Amino acid sequence: MSNRVLSGMQPSGHLHLGNLLGALENWKALQDQYQCFFFVADWHALSTNYADTSRIKEYTQGLLIDWLAAGIDPARSTVFVQSSVPDHAILHLLLSMIVPVAWLERNPTYKEKQEEIKEKDLSTYGFLGYPVLQAADILLYKPDFVPVGKDQLPHLELTRELARRFNNLYQPVFPEPKEHLTQFPKVTGTDGRKMSKSYHNTINLSDSEPEIRKKLKTMVTDPARVRRTDKGNPEVCPVYDFHKIFSSQTVQEQVNQDCRTAAIGCIDCKKLVADVIVERLAPSWETRADLMAKSDYVQDIIHEGKQKASIVAHETMQDVKEAMKI
Ligand code: TRP
Ligand code: SF4
Repeated sequence: MSNRVLSGMQPSGHLHLGNLLGALENWKALQDQYQCFFFVADWHALSTNYADTSRIKEYTQGLLIDWLAAGIDPARSTVFVQSSVPDHAILHLLLSMIVPVAWLERNPTYKEKQEEIKEKDLSTYGFLGYPVLQAADILLYKPDFVPVGKDQLPHLELTRELARRFNNLYQPVFPEPKEHLTQFPKVTGTDGRKMSKSYHNTINLSDSEPEIRKKLKTMVTDPARVRRTDKGNPEVCPVYDFHKIFSSQTVQEQVNQDCRTAAIGCIDCKKLVADVIVERLAPSWETRADLMAKSDYVQDIIHEGKQKASIVAHETMQDVKEAMKI
């Protein structure tokens, strides 16, 4: 049997180009080589949104559609929703009995997120235990690799520590999963900062062609290029960052030269970028339209995913219960 991969995402709104290049392209490539499990972490979304749960279902559905439209292939990968496999909650409970609170309190993302999200009361048990639920998500499937961004490394380390603690206390059940880091550099948003939903500077996978063209039109450029005749510096221009990602080598070199001599204006330069982004996303728009029209089909996929995931999760839970003698 080939090696196993597992990863998840929280349902928190539309995916953007940063998510596509950072995570999804990586997941897609892994599908060719590994037995993959990808799930929507809807219970994790409760940790910060417990006071307003109204959008979680809608976002869960939207995230699944984003994945499928981007090329996550349910014929090869198991795609499911966390809350449809109750074993995640059971293993979370059992792991919560053995995790020292100090491990959770010293987790850097715990304090950082609490500082960052000041408007919500995150002094809850569930928020502190976020990484324990994540450890349960992971360990249930005994994956060899967990594709994640750098920000998730502390959670993965804690997962391994918990696996070791369980194996030592009872019997060896859990192999220690390794991270599979995404190589892609951070994608710049339309305002020149890192592309992120919280900055409102994203280009979403579900944006329409006119929306993308409009966002590009108002995108910031080299601030020194005020007039059309001013010479520019592509190295400080976020539009050029997009060229580096999406345009051919030839176009990149041409733009680089023409920007420095003011042979090309920003309006035309942005149009070139809009064209390649549209070209890149267009195939997924067709799939998306199909999926939106066939909601039964999406339901079938997550039902099948739930069944496939449950079989694996259940086997692990048998081992866990035997090891713990419960
Ligand atoms: N914490 C992850 C994130 O915010 C989401 C997640 C939940 C996850 N459970 C997981 C990722 C298990 C990998 C494996 O991105
Ligand atoms: Fe940026 Fe292109 Fe304008 Fe140069 S021409 S400043 S690369 S948008």
